[in-house]
Amino acid sequence: MVRTRVRWFRWLLGAVVAAWVVWSAIALRERPANSNRPLFSGAHVEPAALAVLDRACRDCHSEATRYPWYSYVAPLSRLIFRDIEVGRERVNFSRWEEYPVLRRQRALTGIANQIQDRLMPLEIYVRFHPEAKLSDAEIAVVFDWAQRERERLILESR
Ligand code: HEC
Repeated sequence: MVRTRVRWFRWLLGAVVAAWVVWSAIALRERPANSNRPLFSGAHVEPAALAVLDRACRDCHSEATRYPWYSYVAPLSRLIFRDIEVGRERVNFSRWEEYPVLRRQRALTGIANQIQDRLMPLEIYVRFHPEAKLSDAEIAVVFDWAQRERERLILESR
């Protein structure tokens, strides 16, 4: 009697795990694809600013996303993929040179504002990636760079 119950329980557990694996595998098909395009192609970006953007923004705003192990597990994967999809849609560092100059200017204003107001990186991301927490000095580096690069583009397009 007890033995049948144990067997039944094992069977159920196996079925749940199998279903979860299938679910995760299906969700994986929605994973935003990476590419090997360089970041900020055509921009003048100094190493210090690039290092911060690479550390705290790249995973959602470029096609060089580092997918952690838990991004393979549904339902978490769906939430992560969604943020990456929307993030890339807003600003994609891997598509910089394809943006018209006005869009680049607007993106730079956006980057400066979002980082200055500490709206980016997203809070949930920082909780999972403590290394993406930025100091005031790091925020200033990106803010100043974004302003300078924007001015450069404006002067260049005159
Ligand atoms: C976890 C993913 C993630 C990370 C990391 C992240 N972002 Fe975002 N970002 C998003 C998403 C999602 C949106 C769209 C938010 C919305 O529309 O509410 C967004 C929007 C933006 C926008 C557009 C805002 C607007 O007005 O439409 C800018 C600019 C931006 N992010 C800059 C950054 C910068 C700079 C960093 C790094 C310091 C960063 N993001 C890190 C996911 C991320």
